[in-house]
Amino acid sequence: MIVLGLETTCDETAAAVVERDDDGRGRILSNVVFSQIDEHAAFGGVVPEIAARAHVEILDGLIAQAMQEAGKSFASLDGVAAAAGPGLIGGLIVGLTTAKAIALVHEKPLIAVNHLEAHALTARLTNDLPFPYCLFLASGGHTQIVAILGVGDYVRLGTTLDDAIGEAFDKTAKILGLAYPGGPAVERAARDGDPARFALPRPMVGRPDANFSLSGLKTALRLEAEKCAPLSDQDVSDLCASFQQAVADMVKDRLRAGLKLFREKFGPPMALVAAGGVASNQAIRKLLNACALDGGTVLVLPRPDLCTDNGAMIAWAGAERLAYGLTDTLDTAPKPRWPLDQVSKPADEPRLDPTFDPTPA
Ligand code: KG4
Ligand code: ZN
Repeated sequence: MIVLGLETTCDETAAAVVERDDDGRGRILSNVVFSQIDEHAAFGGVVPEIAARAHVEILDGLIAQAMQEAGKSFASLDGVAAAAGPGLIGGLIVGLTTAKAIALVHEKPLIAVNHLEAHALTARLTNDLPFPYCLFLASGGHTQIVAILGVGDYVRLGTTLDDAIGEAFDKTAKILGLAYPGGPAVERAARDGDPARFALPRPMVGRPDANFSLSGLKTALRLEAEKCAPLSDQDVSDLCASFQQAVADMVKDRLRAGLKLFREKFGPPMALVAAGGVASNQAIRKLLNACALDGGTVLVLPRPDLCTDNGAMIAWAGAERLAYGLTDTLDTAPKPRWPLDQVSKPADEPRLDPTFDPTPA
């Protein structure tokens, strides 16, 4: 089946066409992403009104480009998917309404996709990964450890009690006068820094639950920065390196706890999968592999452009849901808040593949 997918939840406008064969294998036919970073950079963060207007202006053209690159007509589609939440309401309205219009005119099923579900299922598109597996999602808006048991069957094992990890990187950059988006800027500055110079806290480390907390770390960083002011380049580098090391230590410990919870509840996972912009941080990528091995599983890390927001992940999640007949009506409303465990799942579907071998390859 062939599905068009639209992504407009935050500051990326994206359209893609993917194909899913009857065996469940996926192929990306086109994947066009327009990042609005330049539009928001001057404000040090995403401005919802600017984002919504940019989506309106650019989405039609991106869809035309995605269809052309895929070599497909609207008539040849089996479904039209759009991210219906969670996200900024203006963008959600733009993407979902556009998908509804295409579905209505061409008489195709609509699939209203949960953006987090799309991140969760990407590893099945890229690596043909069987269920169940453990997802670590770390982006600007979300920090979660989730058990991915089947299509629509997700159990959240841990989440952040305050800021998302990406958000903490962005705020750190702002405190230190670095450019937006903060993650890559902090990572760059950290390269020349001493990670042991500032004794920043490691919130939540050692706890049996798998939750995160970032706001205390951010406050501690701000206090250290104020003590050193005016900051030299070396101070900034050392603060970034110390911050990044604290985050890495926390992620390592929280994934240890998350994988342990996974095992206790669901048996061994087929893989640890990472997604979200933070998963492109080299220091964090390095420790993910060790976390997976320590947890008795393997790491699956989709390539960076499929870890960050894109249309292919929405199209793929749409195709996975469509394969179960899970479609949505044209009066479906966008949902700015939409926790993963509230996503609908196929009725009476056996959860795990009976041929499933729990031993990681
Ligand atoms: O997944 P993403 O592209 O968009 C969403 O938030 O949905 O993630 C963006 C977030 C931003 O907060 C950004 O600062 C962070 O991911 N990020 C990074 C890195 N690259 C992006 N954080 C740490 N290190 C990086 N290299
Ligand atoms: Zn995302």
